[in-house]
Amino acid sequence: MMTTLQEAARFIQEQTNQYQPDFGIVLGTGLGALVQDLQVAFSLNYADIPHFPVSTVESHSGKLIFGELGGRKVVVMQGRFHFYEGYSMEQVVFPIRVMKLLGIQKLFVSNAAGGLDPAFNTSDLMVITDHINLLPSNPLIGKNLDELGPRFPDMSEPYSEHLVQQALEISQLHGLNVKTGVYVSVPGPMLETKAEYNYLRTIGADAVGMSTVPEVIAAVHLGLPVFAVSVITDLCVPGKIKKVVLMDILESAAKAEPNMTLLIKELIKRQE
Ligand code: HPA
Repeated sequence: MMTTLQEAARFIQEQTNQYQPDFGIVLGTGLGALVQDLQVAFSLNYADIPHFPVSTVESHSGKLIFGELGGRKVVVMQGRFHFYEGYSMEQVVFPIRVMKLLGIQKLFVSNAAGGLDPAFNTSDLMVITDHINLLPSNPLIGKNLDELGPRFPDMSEPYSEHLVQQALEISQLHGLNVKTGVYVSVPGPMLETKAEYNYLRTIGADAVGMSTVPEVIAAVHLGLPVFAVSVITDLCVPGKIKKVVLMDILESAAKAEPNMTLLIKELIKRQE
């Protein structure tokens, strides 16, 4: 495993003239437009990087993009790997570990999610303050790679409280209506039944989605402070539940995208 990570990292360093990103960004479903704010230095197709998971049709356009955002050097994952696509947990988090080897110091994650909190509206942003993992596995199962992190990583603050605070300050400054809450990850790919939404709310979740938690667990294991934000694309509250079609999810994501991009960009500008 270490060898495959190192080979991928070495290949990327060769292809990008040893570009040294300070921050990693993962862009979720329908949230790729942040790249338009990026001064792109290098762009690599996932398919060309040794040992990177081979894309399924949906995530075909997966790219690792290097450049400056708000004057800071970043590496952006445009497109992520989901557990429901059939990837192993190790594959899902492979790029996170590679980004760490490339030198990132913090990780910023976005996703599309269903809103369980009755106060949420579509296209709201929810800064994630904590999570519940309902995926049937996690990326740390198996022999621990001591070079990456400890056997039993602490999970009392998976999302940096400092970054959450900074995000709330930025939101106030720019008049963004940002909420906070707990994200629950489910396997998918089907959406949830009404009874399941009810259950997810009951166990303490404010938003539900099919990603993010494996990447965050891997990042915490690597010692990376994490910031994550959900774009609420559909409402999962009794009386507000509609048949979900992907088009609607993408439309809600697109509406929220400028705010999400502003939030992440301003946040990155503020980092030491
Ligand atoms: N459930 C799970 N994942 C999602 C949802 C949802 O309602 N909306 C966007 N991703």
